[in-house]
Amino acid sequence: MEEITSVQWFPGHMAKTRRKMKEALPLVDLVAELLDARVPLASRNPDLRSIVGQKPRMVLLNKSDTADEAVTRRWIAAFAAQGVAALAVDCKSGKGLNQVLPLAREILKDRIAAWERKGMGSRPIRVMVVGIPNVGKSSFINRLAKSGKAKVADRPGVTRGNQWFSIGKGGELLDTPGVLWPKFDDPAVGERLAFTGAVKDDVVDTEGLACRLLAWLRDAYPGRLEERYKLTDLEGLPGHELLYAVAKKRGMLISGGELDTERAAATVLDEFRAGRLGRISLERPEETE
Ligand code: G4P
Repeated sequence: MEEITSVQWFPGHMAKTRRKMKEALPLVDLVAELLDARVPLASRNPDLRSIVGQKPRMVLLNKSDTADEAVTRRWIAAFAAQGVAALAVDCKSGKGLNQVLPLAREILKDRIAAWERKGMGSRPIRVMVVGIPNVGKSSFINRLAKSGKAKVADRPGVTRGNQWFSIGKGGELLDTPGVLWPKFDDPAVGERLAFTGAVKDDVVDTEGLACRLLAWLRDAYPGRLEERYKLTDLEGLPGHELLYAVAKKRGMLISGGELDTERAAATVLDEFRAGRLGRISLERPEETE
């Protein structure tokens, strides 16, 4: 996983994105942290807390269409127990997005009451979305901007170049997301991000990755592999045997009749990411301390 860190992120890159985010923070009332609902921990950047400081924050569990619904509900409860309001969203279909502004209002209710006392009750709530690459930031902005339609003109005093989208009555979204970097200190984090496709396959050992995913799926979601690949007796098989079984069942061979494990690995990863193995959560709140 060392390799992944150095390929995609380097200190200069992180310093630049941190600086950009810090510059935008004074312009917004709330930071919407986009996480991948399948891996809310691996897709989280613990440094965000120090970057946003006291600025109110909400967590949006995106790609909830691909995650296990029951697990996502437990994540929302786990975040709530830590005092963080979280919401499941799906920026592909738009599901859950109509709850974003009402939740923002709820989080900011004291502030809004203060605005009202000062006669600034009509002031819109300004939101910035942040998240690691590929978590769905552009999809989120495009979806909300589409439903809100109007682009709000630059105001005097607001950093030049920043555009705001109206996201419904009383809400505005900054058009530039904050790009966070993943934390690869724990190799398991890098691996889970690679499972979801957030880390590019050209920097990882695809076959090894597929073997580990197969072994994990066999244990965590019994029956799914059996059903998808029409396999039986998977109990206790090591990952590479599972990969052989998939290659064999799908008739994936290279010249000479050997099993094409490379192709089988790519197939397993693609099908997992496309949701063909069903809705799956790779992390559960009860597994964390
Ligand atoms: P980013 O700005 O944070 O880098 O992410 P972006 O919006 O580009 O989204 C990355 C990929 O995730 C896109 O897929 C996007 O369609 C997909 N995505 C975003 N939100 C959701 C969601 O809620 N559910 C699902 N299932 N997928 C989501 P892509 O393959 O890169 O492009 P495409 O398939 O849209 O062409």
